[in-house]
Amino acid sequence: AEVLIVKDQQEAGGIVGRAIADLIAAKPDAVLGLATGSTPLRVYEALAGIVAAEGLDVSHVRGFALDEYVGLPVGHPESYRAVITREVVEPLGLDPARVLVPGENATSIQTAGEDYEAAIAAAGGVDLQILGIGRTGHIGFNEPGSSLASRTRVKTLTEPTRIDNARFFDSPDDVPVHCITQGIGTILEARHVFLLAFGDAKADAVAAALEGPVTASSPGSAVQLHRHATVVVDEAAAAHLK
Ligand code: F6R
Repeated sequence: AEVLIVKDQQEAGGIVGRAIADLIAAKPDAVLGLATGSTPLRVYEALAGIVAAEGLDVSHVRGFALDEYVGLPVGHPESYRAVITREVVEPLGLDPARVLVPGENATSIQTAGEDYEAAIAAAGGVDLQILGIGRTGHIGFNEPGSSLASRTRVKTLTEPTRIDNARFFDSPDDVPVHCITQGIGTILEARHVFLLAFGDAKADAVAAALEGPVTASSPGSAVQLHRHATVVVDEAAAAHLK
């Protein structure tokens, strides 16, 4: 992977936002893989700025969220559907009908993963995937132990991840136990992946992902298998790289 060490999230946002804008300019119906959480927020902000400043036509852009909680009431403000609407669809002016979230409107949770895979395939695959990484090393919600060949499916969140995500909820008990996530195999099929990480809490996960063995115990290490991966980290997140 190509590794860029940046000063701060602002700089990362500018770099990745520009890359996405260039992709959309070249391919107006580009397919974006969208991460939620705190990590990509500056990217979406920078991209929204470029879209507005340059009058980029995003009306044909398509998006696929990486993951979603299972068990939240429809419309819950911390559902990833709500987050994607608030942080991505509205600021960029995307067509909401072209942005999908796994598990949504599923006739059955058993087939939701396959349906999502089919929707990604029908769109021609993801052109550019944005990824964060969890302290546990997860990408999407593929926690350690997830097969490197996994596809979109329902998973259980680990305790550390539920604790990390409790900041978005009134109480830690409100964090769902289950989720539906693109698999690692799904993520690896994106044509270009950007893995972003900021802050010292991510330093171990980043080092394991980039310099450790490629293993299901460290899902982020799957980026080593990807032919076009760009890693954007600040100095704190890069601190344990050799
Ligand atoms: C979010 C996702 C997760 C997050 C990761 C980091 O859609 O798939 O893998 O990217 O948990 O979360 P933040 O960015 O909040 O530190």
